Amino acid sequence: MPKPKYHIIVCTNSRPPGHPKPSCGAAGSQNILMAFNMGLMERGVQPGEVLVTGSTCLGPCEQGPTVVVYPDGVWYSKVKESDVATILDEHIQKGQPPAHLNPDAVWS
Ligand code: FES
Repeated sequence: MPKPKYHIIVCTNSRPPGHPKPSCGAAGSQNILMAFNMGLMERGVQPGEVLVTGSTCLGPCEQGPTVVVYPDGVWYSKVKESDVATILDEHIQKGQPPAHLNPDAVWS
């Protein structure tokens, strides 16, 4: 199996009801994870060429859903299901993180 070109990590962390911190899971990140997997299949990306992994909390919970793309180390915050196609088309396929999604804004 070749080394993956990209690894997309989607925070799917959830917290119990009433927990004071928000979570990406409560903000619909499971659907975002599925949209990445479906989007890669629709684009004919070979299995293993791009990995998509759900994760526990990545840190910036208030800015979730959080998605990180490696090896670029680009962080996307407040990701919506409708953003997934843009990230796949512009970042994963063209190598250009879409500026209008404010990549890395969570760290500024
Ligand atoms: S719950 Fe997703 S970043 Fe913390």
